[in-house]
Amino acid sequence: MKILVVGSGGREHAIIHKLLENKEIEKIWCAPGNGGIASEAECVDIKATDVEGMVKFAKEKQADFCVVTPDDPLALGMVDEMEKQGIPCFGPKAKAAVIEASKAFSKNLMKKYGIPTADYQIFDDAKKALQYIEEKNTFPIVLKADGLALGKGVLIAESLADAKAAIRELMIDRMFGTAGNTVVVEEFMEGPEVSVLAFTDSKVIRPMISSMDHKRADDHDEGLNTGGMGTIAPSPYYTEKIAQQCMDEIFLPTMYAMNAEDRAFKGCLYFGLMLTETGPRVVEYNCRFGDPETQVVLPLLKGDLYTIMKACHDETLDKVKIDWSDEHCACVIEASGGYPVKYTKGYEIHGLDEHGQHDDVYIYHAGTKLENGKYYTNGGRVLGVTALGNTLDDALKTAYSAVDEIGFENMHCRRDIGRK
Ligand code: AMP
Ligand code: GLY
Repeated sequence: MKILVVGSGGREHAIIHKLLENKEIEKIWCAPGNGGIASEAECVDIKATDVEGMVKFAKEKQADFCVVTPDDPLALGMVDEMEKQGIPCFGPKAKAAVIEASKAFSKNLMKKYGIPTADYQIFDDAKKALQYIEEKNTFPIVLKADGLALGKGVLIAESLADAKAAIRELMIDRMFGTAGNTVVVEEFMEGPEVSVLAFTDSKVIRPMISSMDHKRADDHDEGLNTGGMGTIAPSPYYTEKIAQQCMDEIFLPTMYAMNAEDRAFKGCLYFGLMLTETGPRVVEYNCRFGDPETQVVLPLLKGDLYTIMKACHDETLDKVKIDWSDEHCACVIEASGGYPVKYTKGYEIHGLDEHGQHDDVYIYHAGTKLENGKYYTNGGRVLGVTALGNTLDDALKTAYSAVDEIGFENMHCRRDIGRK
């Protein structure tokens, strides 16, 4: 069996590493991949957003299955195009990927189907947005670019002055391009955040083990929002009672809502949840695996990932048993100093063996390049140092002792992953 995985991050590395446990898989291509992925899959130089190029490649190579992971090719309809050419995929079609691609869509969906989330208003006019914020006069207040902005299009305003600056950045300076044409202004929620990824074939939905991301760049949740600086799984906050409540009030209603809107969702649906005093509420949906959540969730999956992915495509997920390990997993991201704003690439990474790995941990490569047998930094998030343990403490200890032995110039990581 030959599989094409689309994407180039630590998440894709984790998916490939897990898929390879299936001995029927003889070949994996990853497009475009990265330096570390190259030791497990053949990297192909096609941009993740090049739908035509990707479909052409998959057809030429007669790929048996394609896993489309990043948000933008999903929103661009890569799954639709692959399947038109007879290549089965894991991932939603464009019509369903809109659940992430448009925050206005997802907020309206939740309102229509009574799924708990923050109260909100949608604006495409900067003046009206500001007027609303002035009238409401409750801070903090949250402003979100409608479109895809690499997880960074969310601004939390602590005051009216902050809100004015945020509106300017999003709607006038267009810091996130056209993603800021429309802006969602929403109520600020408080409570622990939990990520729950779920496999779904649109008939049944099977939540994976819970996890907790650390989105801010610096310790104690300070600094800018990033794609994620580290994760742990399971989340200590996500009790069985809360899980049941989420299933009844959020997961199933979302799956049914998408069906009712004729946007059946198949693939991995990601629920970004906040456990507020009044119960769990949705912060955001993603139409794909989270990064770096995947890096801590998949190592805890017992059994074969391909079988589950294929069942999501075939709508036979009800027939597949999915089990989880009792262990804990922690992932610490080593990032380029300056990320998420401005950083330098091309530094040599020390502490890795020839496969880009290190004893006792698994290194999921995100922004790395392999040249003449050496690994170099090639992005904002560089490595995800990932460890398993019988307790969360054990997993963290193992991960951080490896972090101390792996590095590069200007390396930045958080020292408090899993400590809250
Ligand atoms: P999002 O891209 O929508 O997940 O937002 C990124 C991050 O901003 C979230 O993980 C939260 O930490 C924060 N955030 C987003 N919306 C809210 C909200 N309504 N209240 C409080 N924090 C929020
Ligand atoms: N870690 C958050 C995300 O993948 O969007």
